[in-house]
Parts: sequence; structure tokens; C-alpha cells
Amino acid sequence: MSTFLLPSVPIESLDVYMATGMGGSGVRRAHELGPAATIDIVSQSGLRGRGGGGFPTGQKWAGVASQTGGRRYLVCNGAEGEPGTFKDRALLRANPYQLVEGVAIAAFAIGAEEAFICLKASFRREIDAVTRVVQEFQTAGLCVECKVTVVAGPDEYLFGEEKAMLEVIEGNEPLPRWLPPYLHGLFATAPQLGWQSHDVEVEIGSASGDGSNPTLVNNVETLSNIPHILVRGAEWFRSMGTAESPGTIVTTVVGDVLAPDVGEVEMGVSLRAVIDAVGSGLAVGRSVKAVFSGVANAVVTAGDLDVPVSYEGFAAIGSGMGSAGFIVYDDTTCMADAAYRFSRFLSIESCGQCPPCKLGSSAITEHLERIETGVGTQGDLDAITGWLGHVTDGSRCYLAREEQIMVTSILRAFPEEFAEHIELGRCPRPRRLPIPKLVDLADGRAVYDESFWRKRPDWTYAPEEQNMAGDGSERRS
Ligand SMILES: Cc1cc2nc3c(=O)[nH]c(=O)nc-3n(C[C@H](O)[C@H](O)[C@H](O)COP(=O)(O)O)c2cc1C
Ligand code: SF4
Repeated sequence: MSTFLLPSVPIESLDVYMATGMGGSGVRRAHELGPAATIDIVSQSGLRGRGGGGFPTGQKWAGVASQTGGRRYLVCNGAEGEPGTFKDRALLRANPYQLVEGVAIAAFAIGAEEAFICLKASFRREIDAVTRVVQEFQTAGLCVECKVTVVAGPDEYLFGEEKAMLEVIEGNEPLPRWLPPYLHGLFATAPQLGWQSHDVEVEIGSASGDGSNPTLVNNVETLSNIPHILVRGAEWFRSMGTAESPGTIVTTVVGDVLAPDVGEVEMGVSLRAVIDAVGSGLAVGRSVKAVFSGVANAVVTAGDLDVPVSYEGFAAIGSGMGSAGFIVYDDTTCMADAAYRFSRFLSIESCGQCPPCKLGSSAITEHLERIETGVGTQGDLDAITGWLGHVTDGSRCYLAREEQIMVTSILRAFPEEFAEHIELGRCPRPRRLPIPKLVDLADGRAVYDESFWRKRPDWTYAPEEQNMAGDGSERRS
């Protein structure tokens, strides 16, 4: 298998990075080629954004580079808030240099005034590494003209949503604004449409006062690929993976597997092979019941485990590859409980700017909890179906759609489990079902964020002694 993003031994100094033959060569190549030809190579490579959506990276860069309207900015998205995902932190631990070089190349290609690398404040180790590497690059003359700022953001899931990330960089809460970053960029002074998430601040970034400041947002893994593509070429990149999903993907495999881990695989490898190769498979006697790629996509059932891990592969089975953070559940799992817990996650993280999203996801969660705890009726299922038709009404961001897709898919794939709960008046498969919001992942051990169970819908936290729904004891007692 071809792998190049995740070295087996972490690269911890600029000298070691330079010795790989890669260090600095990508930036140099970009400067030789100029911005337009640099963007062309990225387009020809077929690289697609690894933040979840899979949007063609070269097309995004060309779009931002062609926009007029004040200054341009680059944002690197390292929020990594998707449950089941740890790959950006793994990349930053293994080789923070390729990311910073990718940032320098992207900033040059789109003519960015300044670049921001955004990580959660709780990712202390990764923040320290990136901050150190930016300084090393500047001292070594590899990033002289580029201004790079490392931003430490909040733990909220929405921090990773690109329109909310721009708000955080500007010093506000992670509440998504209306327009995408290429239309309403950082420190923009052009008027925003509709209801504001904060008061418009005038004259921060644009001397003329009328700049929309087109801003490019790319994920850590997307930008980590860039120096390799510049140095080795688009054809080399296309020699890996599939025609529609070239290259490799850094996947995370957690849940009911023997040894949760992060691993780089060529696109097109089957999901079954990834679960075995990266997660070391399941315990003897257990089989896969369901796999989720984060909480944003439709459930993948046991019959679809041979799906190729690629954008088109997952689309063909009615799901999405997302950021390839695979949460594996075995045959002991209660799918009503899984639906309840995922829905709870999304309803808590919903910011409430769009009432159907907050009210709908909260109502769906309550009805799912009633079903899971054995007091649900057909009326609860009907109410869920009703809300699923409206939860996305007028939504500013994709979170509401995630709720709609994820819950609908579980109801469709496992209708008998919901009927069983209603008929029995209890959960037939009680077990502790964690939400893998990852704090750490190393040596085959995943550490989940247990404080999440104390998080309330208004983003405050209940005192520690209150378990909420962490191990199910409160709900079931
Ligand atoms: C609720 C929500 C959370 C998201 N969280 C992340 C995240 O943690 N990291 C990330 O890279 N993208 C995240 N995204 C996707 C970003 O909005 C954006 O599409 C991405 O950073 C673009 O980069 P790419 O083109 O390189 O994929 C999230 C999207 C939504 C709707
Ligand atoms: S869709 Fe939901 S999470 Fe997104 S902005 Fe609206 S209320 Fe907030």
C-alpha cells in the first residue's frame, strides 16, 4: 500500500523534514511555478477536501483566487470535532511540517494576506507543535512573507463548521453565519444578509470598507497533501486511489474493534479491509452490525461492508465517506440507543439560530429516548417522522441535515428494533454505548470525552456528580 502522509517515525525537527527530500521543496516549486500553475497542479491531481464534504480542492482555490473584493485569507480547519475522528491530530503528531508547508503553498497560491491555523484549545500538544513549526519555517526562510496565526478555539462541534470558524477567528461564539467563506470572508465589511449572529463590525480588515474578503477554508489533511503533490506531481497522486477519489485517506477506526487506531490507506480499499487493517477487526464471535462515518452520514449495514472507501463508493450505497472516521458497532448493539445517542449529540451541539434545528433535534432525541427506555409508542415514531421532515427548515448550516440523514437512515435500516422496543416495553439489548468523541487515541486505546454527557443544550455543563446519559444508568434506573 502507498502511504506518505503518516510516517512510521514522527518527524520532530526541521532538519529531519528537510532530509526527507520534501521539506521546503513544495514551497520552492510553487514559487517557481507561480500561483496560477500551482492551482492547476492541485486541480489536475484531483485532490478532494478531507474535511468531510470531498469538494475538489483545486476548484475551491481557483474560485477564491479569482474573487475580487478586498483581501483574501486562508483558514486551516483543525477543529476535528466529528465523533470517531482523530486523523488530523494523528497527522499533526506524525508530521506537522507538511501541514505548515501546505499552508504556506495555499496562502501563496490564492494570494492570502494572512493564514490562520485553527485547533481546539484542548489540543495543547498539537497547538505547541504547529506553533513551533511555524516559527522554524519563518526562521529558515521558508515562510518569510506569509503571516500565520495559530488560533485556539472552543470545544463545540460547530467550531469545525467553516462559517462558525470564521466567527471564532473574529472573536465571537461558534455560530455559523449565513454566507459561505468565499462570499463573506474574514473581517469582511460588506453587509451580511439576514439575521446576524453578531453585530457587524466595520473597518476591521478592509481599508475601503466594502470588502467581502474571500476566504479559503481547508482541512488539515487536505493541506498536508499539498507539498507532496507539488513535489511529486499530479500524475503521481492520481496513480493512487480511484479515478474520482485519487490519493490516500487517513482513516480512524473506533468502537467495537480490538484496537482502535488511525491508519493511511489507498482510496478504494474496502471498508471491511479497513476495519481489519486499521482497527484490528472484532473480537472472536462478534460480527459487525453497523458502521457510521462520524454522525453526519447514513448508517452502513453489515451487507455493505465491501463498499470501497471512496467518495463515489459511499455515495453509491446512499451514504457518505465523510472524514473517514469509522465508528463500528457489533451485533450486541441496540440501534435505537445508537440513534438516541447520536441525535442527542447533534441536538446538544445545535446552536439554536434556526429554531427547527434546535427544537426538532431536541424533540427527536426525546422521542428516541422514550422508545429506548421502553415507554415509547407508535405516536413517538410518528412524531419523529414528522420532525424529520422539518428539522432542516431554513437552516444556516449542515448540522440539521446531519440529524435528518442519520436518524432517517437508522429508522429505515432497523425498523424491527424500534417495533421491538415498543412491543416489549424495554430495551432488548441493554449495554453501555459510548459516543466516541475522541480526546486521545494511542497504542490501541481510545479515550472518549466523558464530560460530554454533562453538556446541556445551552452549552453549559451539569456538575460532575450528574451522569446525564453517560453509561445509561440514569436513564434506566
Ligand atoms: C457541523 C459541522 C462540523 C464540521 N466540523 C469539521 C471539522 O471538525 N473539521 C473539518 O475539517 N471540517 C469540518 N466541517 C466541514 C467544514 O465546514 C468545511 O467543509 C471543511 O473544513 C472544508 O475543508 P476541505 O475542503 O479541505 O474539506 C464541519 C461541517 C459541519 C457542518
Ligand atoms: S442549522 Fe442548527 S446548528 Fe446550524 S446554524 Fe442553524 S441552529 Fe445552528
